[in-house]
Amino acid sequence: MNAYVPAGDRYDSMQYNRCGKSGIRLPAVSLGLWHNFGSIDTFENGRKIVRRAFDKGITHFDLANNYGPVPGSAEENFGNILKKDFTGNLRDELIISTKAGYHMWPGPYGEWGSRKNLLSSLDQSLKRMQLDYVDIFYSHRPDPETPIEETMGALDTAVRQGKALYVGLSNYTAEQTTAALAVLKSLGTPCLIHQPKYSMFERWVENGLLDVLENNGVGCIPFSPLAQGLLTDRYLGGIPEGSRASKPSGFLKAEQITQEKLDKINQLNAIAQRRGQSLAQMALSWLLKDRRITTVLIGASSVEQLDNNLGALANLRYTVEELEEIEAILK
Ligand SMILES: NC(=O)c1ccc[n+]([C@@H]2O[C@H](COP(=O)([O-])OP(=O)(O)OC[C@H]3O[C@@H](n4cnc5c(N)ncnc54)[C@H](OP(=O)(O)O)[C@@H]3O)[C@@H](O)[C@H]2O)c1
Repeated sequence: MNAYVPAGDRYDSMQYNRCGKSGIRLPAVSLGLWHNFGSIDTFENGRKIVRRAFDKGITHFDLANNYGPVPGSAEENFGNILKKDFTGNLRDELIISTKAGYHMWPGPYGEWGSRKNLLSSLDQSLKRMQLDYVDIFYSHRPDPETPIEETMGALDTAVRQGKALYVGLSNYTAEQTTAALAVLKSLGTPCLIHQPKYSMFERWVENGLLDVLENNGVGCIPFSPLAQGLLTDRYLGGIPEGSRASKPSGFLKAEQITQEKLDKINQLNAIAQRRGQSLAQMALSWLLKDRRITTVLIGASSVEQLDNNLGALANLRYTVEELEEIEAILK
């Protein structure tokens, strides 16, 4: 692949939203490397997607210790992309996130929320990505058996060690978030952002979490905003070869694509077409219309998908009638 020269107009079309009450603004669309960037995937394809993302103003890349497969390989590949393409001071134009909490290595310290797990995992992630620090370090999931003070204390330590600039929470309920935010605040390391699963098909955050985040000045970055591809035109005509649902390593299973889901997807698609959008664009703009949403965290298996998703920013407005029609379908 040619040497990479970032597009000169990369900051011209992206919208940047303030993350809660922090000093950081994040692009309205962020790119996640959960699928399509592992050692089983084509490195050059992932590299193309990352380059294109940055050329379009996506400054935020989301990883976790376990992304692959194999676990860890997405961080390794991303580190290699950084080394090859993001030279000079380009690191300073990037927000790079990683997480710890899901199973990563054998034995009692390879997962969950102990100080031992979080800080060892962060050291491993930095090594794999060949970085001195990440911008955001997350507790990937709440641990029912570790005191919240210990898990939050580990996040605070990561910042004090200079290995992370900010901290975040992922998959914490509204109640767990409230408790975690209080501890972080008392330690002097306020939480920057929360990463929950949120899409037209997954609405739990609307029952309390979004209010907790707003009241505490914390940003929100919904993951799987396209329901892993269901909220796109990917499955309108069945399960295509190469799609996530067709792969044994994918987290979207064929049995999740029920006739009931397909009926809803087709009805939503008709509204999207009327709005002059793809279904993916409508699914993303539907989230971004809420000012509590800082950025949507998409995945993409091609540059074409990425480009299509960025088109969501062209129309973030909804009429009351459109919203009611969408609610009636989602019920
Ligand atoms: N914190 C957590 O616990 C957690 C959990 C899951 C994910 N995440 C984060 O969230 C990120 C995004 O998750 P996700 O990949 O599930 O997000 P998603 O955006 O809901 O789904 C992405 C998938 O949808 C398909 N797609 C995307 N754009 C498309 C388009 N325009 N047209 C047709 N198909 C399209 C592609 O599937 P194909 O591969 O079939 O082409 C793509 O891989 C992850 O990378 C990760 O960073 C976090």
